[in-house]
Amino acid sequence: MSNNNNADNPRSKLIIASNNAGKIREFRELLSPFGFEVMSMRDAGYNEEIAEDGETFEENAHIKARAVYEALKLPTIADDSGLEIDFLNGAPGVYSARYAGENATDEERCAKVLEEMHGAAKALRDARFVCAIYFIFDEENEYSVSGEVRGYIGDEPIGKNGFGYDPIFMLGENESMATIDEAEKNKISHRAKAFEQLSLILKEKFS
Ligand code: IMP
Repeated sequence: MSNNNNADNPRSKLIIASNNAGKIREFRELLSPFGFEVMSMRDAGYNEEIAEDGETFEENAHIKARAVYEALKLPTIADDSGLEIDFLNGAPGVYSARYAGENATDEERCAKVLEEMHGAAKALRDARFVCAIYFIFDEENEYSVSGEVRGYIGDEPIGKNGFGYDPIFMLGENESMATIDEAEKNKISHRAKAFEQLSLILKEKFS
C-alpha cells in the first residue's frame, strides 16, 4: 500500500457519506488536522438514497462509502452504528434506527427493547454499542475500523443526555449512557473508539 502524503494537496476534498449534521461536525473536527476539505454528500452533489442492506455494521459502512465514492470519485468516509443485545441474538443490530418502525421515536425504540427483555436476569442483559467506519481514499487505499463499548440493558430508562438507546444502556449501577455528560460519552463511546482507530491511520498515512 502506498504512503499517501497529503501535504502536496492540502485542500483535497473528503466526503462524509451522511447528511446528519452532528456526524459531519464530528468528522470535520476529527479530520481538521489533516488538511482535507470536509463536505457532506449532499453538499458534494450526491442526493441518492442508499439501501443499507448489509448484514453487519461494517458491510453497511462499506456499501455507503462505495456508493458515494463511485459517484463522485473523491475520498469518502461512511459510518454505521447501533446496539447489539446478547439476549436478543444481536438485535436490534443493523436495524437499530428502524427497530420500532420507520417513524418511531427514541422512547418507543427503548420501550420495545425493554419489553423484549422483560424478565431477563441481569446476567443475560449484556449489550454493546458498535460503530464501524469505512474510508475509501482512492482505488488502492481503503480502510475499515470499528469501536465498541460494553454495558447492559437496564430495567427502565434513566438519564436525559445523549440520544437513541442511551437511557437504557447501563454502564454501572445507576449510571447509563444518558446520565453521563457529552464530554464523558465522547471519551468512552463506540464512535470515539472507532475515531481513535481512524485517527491512527490518518496520522500514519496523511500527516
Ligand atoms: P446510524 O449509525 O446513524 O445508522 O444510527 C443507527 C441507530 O443506532 C441510531 O438511530 C440509534 O438508534 C442507535 N445508536 C447509534 N449510536 C448510538 C449512541 O451513541 N447512543 C444511542 N443509540 C445509538
